[in-house]
Amino acid sequence: MDKLKIGFIGGGNMAEAILSALSRKGALDKENITVSDPSDMRRQILADKYPLTTTASNLEVVEKSEVIILAVKPQNLSPVLAELGGRFNPSQLVISIIAGVKIRKLVEGLGIDKVTRAMPNILAQIGQGVTLWIASQALSQEEKAKVRYILSMLGPELATENEEELDIATAISGSGPAYAFFFMESLMEAAKALGMSESTAKMLIGQTLSGSGQLVIESSYDIGELRRRVTSPGGTTAAALKVFEEENIKGAIKKAIEAAFKRSKELSELA
Ligand SMILES: NC(=O)c1ccc[n+]([C@@H]2O[C@H](COP(=O)([O-])OP(=O)(O)OC[C@H]3O[C@@H](n4cnc5c(N)ncnc54)[C@H](OP(=O)(O)O)[C@@H]3O)[C@@H](O)[C@H]2O)c1
Repeated sequence: MDKLKIGFIGGGNMAEAILSALSRKGALDKENITVSDPSDMRRQILADKYPLTTTASNLEVVEKSEVIILAVKPQNLSPVLAELGGRFNPSQLVISIIAGVKIRKLVEGLGIDKVTRAMPNILAQIGQGVTLWIASQALSQEEKAKVRYILSMLGPELATENEEELDIATAISGSGPAYAFFFMESLMEAAKALGMSESTAKMLIGQTLSGSGQLVIESSYDIGELRRRVTSPGGTTAAALKVFEEENIKGAIKKAIEAAFKRSKELSELA
């Protein structure tokens, strides 16, 4: 596929993770990539780090791009819709990564039919993200392939037909890296308290979590079975898991995910 002209409305953390993924694939250059952000400092940081064009004008991004990625916070969407509504041409594609905001709202607010909603995560910055996405009916197979091509640069991508799953993905994989970091941080504290050096623990923890994730993806067993298979009765793993059970860690995680899901709904109402 030829280099696509891709524009970003909002050049914050998630936009940068995507830019970093595109950069690793050699898909960035000043001609084709335009990023708008209100902050002079933010624009400077991005322009210093990546070959791209920055601007304070969202309209300039729309005028120059075939695919426009909406990467503002839900609470900053209203002014963007007011500014850009009706300024698209029918051949352009919009990809929104904004948590909680429905395709219908974007179609109505922007006056464009070809809208994709995607939920990536911050691991895109090393090409190891995962993105769930859904495209509006108006996209042709060829246009969907274009969207898939862009999202596949961030890591594995998965399309769904059920828009509700996007809100669930926000709470599971969108916020998920932070849960994994929290778990790893806890392992790190425990390892250090037992006397292990930070550098050794970092490697052991990072690789254990990353390898476990890979095994979950590659194995034909479900996750519970994988856990049972490494837990011999009366062994060390069983001793640790017994404490997790006594402390109802599963219950706490379920509550945490429900809280993230609820918060994503609340934030979408601010949009
Ligand atoms: N971070 C994640 O892990 C993650 C994962 C999946 C999806 N998302 C979604 O990605 C979106 C962006 O999240 P983020 O974490 O990247 O937030 P962020 O770092 O705050 O980035 C948003 C950027 O948009 C800029 N902005 C604000 N108003 C604007 C406007 N009217 N026009 C153009 N740019 C504007 C902000 O500038 P100021 O800071 O100056 O306001 C900021 O630089 C959110 O909707 C979020 O739901 C995030």
